[in-house]
Amino acid sequence: MKFKKFIYALAPMAGVTDFAFRKICADFGADMVVSEMISIKALENNSDRTLKLLREESKAKRACQLFGHDVNAIEKVLKNKVFENFDYIDFNCGCPAPKIVKNGDGSAMMKNLEKSRAVISALVKASPKPVSVKFRLGIDGKENYIEFGKMCEQCGVSFITLHARTREQGYAGVVDKSAYKKLIDAVKIPVFWSGDIATIEDAEYAKQIGCAGVMIGRNALGNPEIFSTLKGKHAPYSKKEAIIKHLNMLKTYFKTERTLVAYFKKHLMWYVRSTKNATLTKQKILEFTTLKQIENLINEM
Ligand SMILES: Cc1cc2nc3c(=O)[nH]c(=O)nc-3n(C[C@H](O)[C@H](O)[C@H](O)COP(=O)(O)O)c2cc1C
Repeated sequence: MKFKKFIYALAPMAGVTDFAFRKICADFGADMVVSEMISIKALENNSDRTLKLLREESKAKRACQLFGHDVNAIEKVLKNKVFENFDYIDFNCGCPAPKIVKNGDGSAMMKNLEKSRAVISALVKASPKPVSVKFRLGIDGKENYIEFGKMCEQCGVSFITLHARTREQGYAGVVDKSAYKKLIDAVKIPVFWSGDIATIEDAEYAKQIGCAGVMIGRNALGNPEIFSTLKGKHAPYSKKEAIIKHLNMLKTYFKTERTLVAYFKKHLMWYVRSTKNATLTKQKILEFTTLKQIENLINEM
């Protein structure tokens, strides 16, 4: 497949890219938004909590990210009508978290190319939507991202995203900028850049070397405005309005005030990062236990 224009995407972030945040980033100009990673096993068990993660209302291309390696579960789960609400199914082969890797998922998928080939082929076959794969440079000291990308292409994957760090690097240091071009030269399918995109120049560089788009992760935290900034467009509304919308949408999602407050505090800490007296405000937020406290703080902004 080919993208008609350079794509600015919100990267998948577990515990962060909830449906409300995805919708807000799309409002600010993200061309594509990717869900938090969702367990195929949990979907197979029809877990209500997991199905809820599939809520999607963004005005952008929508990708749902899955992880797991059970081919039978993949064949069963992808029949769910919920995927009609998405444009792409993204497959996670990059998560470095020990509990995911221990189960042979996430970046552990890069250990055994033949096993991954079977899983990704099954996913492409079962998926009602084009499949993309997101992966790292490699795992266990072995950088095999070129072979991995080629294998994805052979399986019929529509596009790939590289986060150019190894599993062992986690999120530390900087990405290996030279890896993206090497991957682009090795495959015919579109390649997305994920990692350290912060400025117009960063995105411009990715475009210049031939990337189909950039995925923005940490620099979008509390900062959906990054999409309007990178695209040189006006923000559709203020940060304060973004926070209010985010909170209000999540009120329809969390069952109890306690769980909503615990979850939203994390986003609020990111939202206030760039404000005056941020350190003090963040200390205050840590102590919050009620919705009223959150709403009072937002009113004062
Ligand atoms: C809190 C957090 C959660 C993440 N969760 C996921 C995930 O669920 N799936 C995934 O493919 N990558 C995940 N990532 C990796 C990001 O998508 C991205 O590849 C990485 O952070 C590098 O990009 P950045 O420098 O723009 O943040 C996560 C990153 C962070 C910081």
